[in-house]
Amino acid sequence: KKHLLFGGMVVVKLAERYGTPLYVTDENKLRNNFKRYKNAFETTNIDTDIYYAVKANGILALLKILASEGSGSDVFSAGELVLTKLAGIPAEKILFNGNSKSDDDLRTAVESGVRVSVDSVDELRALSAVANELGKEVEIAIRVNPDVSPDVHAKIATGLKESKFGIPFHDVIPVCEEAEKLPNVLLAGLHCHIGSQILDITVFGEATEKMMGLVERVYERGMKLKFVDLGGGLGIGYRQEEKATAPTPKDLAEMILPVFENKVQELGISFKLVLEPGRSVVGTSTILLSRVNAVKRANKNFVAIDAGFNLLIRPVMYGAYHEVVVANKVNERASELYTVVGNVCEAGDIMAKDRILPKVERGDLVAILDTGAYGFSMSSQYNGRPRCAEVLVCNGKADLIRSRESVEDLIRNQEIPARLT
Ligand code: LLP
Repeated sequence: KKHLLFGGMVVVKLAERYGTPLYVTDENKLRNNFKRYKNAFETTNIDTDIYYAVKANGILALLKILASEGSGSDVFSAGELVLTKLAGIPAEKILFNGNSKSDDDLRTAVESGVRVSVDSVDELRALSAVANELGKEVEIAIRVNPDVSPDVHAKIATGLKESKFGIPFHDVIPVCEEAEKLPNVLLAGLHCHIGSQILDITVFGEATEKMMGLVERVYERGMKLKFVDLGGGLGIGYRQEEKATAPTPKDLAEMILPVFENKVQELGISFKLVLEPGRSVVGTSTILLSRVNAVKRANKNFVAIDAGFNLLIRPVMYGAYHEVVVANKVNERASELYTVVGNVCEAGDIMAKDRILPKVERGDLVAILDTGAYGFSMSSQYNGRPRCAEVLVCNGKADLIRSRESVEDLIRNQEIPARLT
């Protein structure tokens, strides 16, 4: 029986050593994914910074690896800010995003010296007041709602007119003008992010056109910028048959750079291009290993595994597809139709529907592929299940990078009022 290899390791051995469920990340894959971005955007004179979107996966060891490759970060909370600073990403390469920031969030951002992407006029005024109070200046970007429709799941299209993110396209110039007048905030950039898991990348061209049109109007009014941030959103091939055709960072660069370059040349200006990829950096770097607890012939042929939507919510939340491999039977013939379900007490806890797999038995090990993005980072303790461990593999060596939670972690922070004891 052939066994699945990942990062030069026999994953069956990893499961024996660390237990299941288990997230496993391949360091080389992660580095290569990041390098593909760097190389793709190094082809022109446009100075490009990659700000990895921490929400996709905030495990410190991975952030450390990305920091060593030269990544900056897009953070969406004070917590993500702390994580990336711990990983060694310098403040000048961090953008604090978010559509609902508290005064505390704004204070943290200003004190840390990072840039802030401002999502509303309310926030702009509050930020100016906070910075003023702290006697500091803060560079800002205006988060633009570009009104572009990518062909993706409704829950992950973020730049539609009706979306909660960003300042409506037609209000952006007046907001920039207000920012110029307010004390302690310095207009430095324009920012947008149109959605996630985008496979038809023509929308990136459309968004770039719109953003560069705004840039022109900003410069016409005598204002200047240091960067334009076009967000993340590049999709990956989750299905085997999509792997060869899914767009690459190079395709993205070829879509964005000509539009960007034309405009800066036409206007005789220069500033940085910033991108915020999450999924396309970490997605393929990680698998989730899970043990088969039961195989049941019922209305469907069910395979019940020891990981549910508490550890990987994408199939349930977005109807997302992840390839499933029986890791201890990789060269056995796929012969039967199975539906792989989790161990959460909900009928919707289906990880993979109608897959043809080799004959599965209790005790087999299943690998769910491409779970590096929005896998562990969206996990919970639902059903009283401590979160699983994660290991990093590199050239045949493994290191634990997050230990398995225990029931102690379920109890931590809970208090029983004295009157109940
Ligand atoms: N920048 C901003 C402002 C974002 O809101 C996001 C993702 C990104 C960058 C990174 O996008 P990416 O390159 O990863 O597509 N949980 C969903 C995806 C939610 C994306 C939220 N924003 C999923 O599992 O599909």
